Amino acid sequence: MIYLKSDKQIDEMKLAGGLAAKTLDMIAEHVKPGITTQQLNELCHNFTIKHNAICAPLKYKGFPKSICTSINDVVCHGIPSSKTKLKDGDIINIDVTPIVNGYHGDTSRMFLVGQPSREAKKLVEITQQCLELGIEAVKIGGRTGDIGAAIQQHAEKHKYSVVREFVGHGIGKKFHEDPQIMHYGKPGTGKPFEPGMVFTIEPMINIGHWKTKIKKDRWTAVTIDGSLSAQFEHTIAIRSNGQVEILTVSENYIPTN
Ligand code: MF3
Ligand code: CO
Ligand code: CO
Repeated sequence: MIYLKSDKQIDEMKLAGGLAAKTLDMIAEHVKPGITTQQLNELCHNFTIKHNAICAPLKYKGFPKSICTSINDVVCHGIPSSKTKLKDGDIINIDVTPIVNGYHGDTSRMFLVGQPSREAKKLVEITQQCLELGIEAVKIGGRTGDIGAAIQQHAEKHKYSVVREFVGHGIGKKFHEDPQIMHYGKPGTGKPFEPGMVFTIEPMINIGHWKTKIKKDRWTAVTIDGSLSAQFEHTIAIRSNGQVEILTVSENYIPTN
């Protein structure tokens, strides 16, 4: 069941979205060779708490940390660890989800550590474009499948593959709600877009095969063939007048004091 949100509720969700974006702005300068993913976790956690917000991932279905840190062939849900140090040439996705006044704001970006290969940088660039094209596909009159179709077409044009096991999702008072947003598929399929829908788009794009496997920690998803994977995520809302708005932008951040 899809919980539609009023314009007032969407305004409230912008506070969580803005804080999520600001958290990634804050962490950017810390993403350097030598820092551990546990240190990144602590910086984001403390930033969130300081803003009277809660880290949704922490203890969510047993997830042990406050953010997800997914390096190189890790597709998503990488667990921060004091044993994992960033090294020159890595690409890392940092995924944050603060809860503000009960509402979730979910966003992730890729960061380059030192000087990654041209191949890695191109994957990151095309994946960002995939998210942008997915967002542009959201229009009253269309359907959720239009998002996946736009993303798949762009990824495959560059000989990349789209991960199928993880999807975007409705979001609000709950972290994951209906509808599911697939990042591949056919235009004109899926749920019709409606005013009041709030959902994430979060394509995961691989250089090699789209298949993933889960590591023994029961969370970390890696590419089946060890190829590099990238992901970007935004939380999107459709206003009562049909306008599409990205909630997870820094402009929505309101300083607390
Ligand atoms: N932030 C992730 C998403 O985009 C979900 C992480 S679930 C966790 O949906 F438990 F790993 F935190
Ligand atoms: Co999400
Ligand atoms: Co996320």
